[in-house]
Amino acid sequence: MDKKTYTITVQNNEKCFNNRADQHLLEGVEKSKSKTVTVGCRGGGCGVCKIRVLAGEFNCKVMSRDHISMEEEAEGIVLACRAYPESDLTIEPAEPAFLKMLKKKQRITE
Ligand code: FES
Repeated sequence: MDKKTYTITVQNNEKCFNNRADQHLLEGVEKSKSKTVTVGCRGGGCGVCKIRVLAGEFNCKVMSRDHISMEEEAEGIVLACRAYPESDLTIEPAEPAFLKMLKKKQRITE
C-alpha cells in the first residue's frame, strides 16, 4: 500500500487537503469535509464527481465514455472517484454531463 501523501489544491476557493496516493481524489475530498465535489456512487457509475485537473500528475482507472468523453479526458477532466494523485495537484470541479444537458434543454425551451 502506497502511503505517500500529496497536497491537493482546489482552484478558486484556495482550499487544500492531503490525499494519499492509494486513495482516490473523491475519498480525499470527503475526508477533508470539503463540499467542492459532488459525491455520488463512488465507483464510476453516476458521473457526478467530475473534476478538471489543472496541474500535476495523476493516474485514472477506466472511466465510462457515458460520463467522460475523449475530448474531456484530453482536457484533464476525470471522475474524482477514479483518479489517484501521483504528485501535488490543482483541481477544480467540472460540470457533470447531465447538468450541461439540463441547462441546454432549459435554454431551448425558454
Ligand atoms: S461518484 Fe459516481 S462516478 Fe464518481
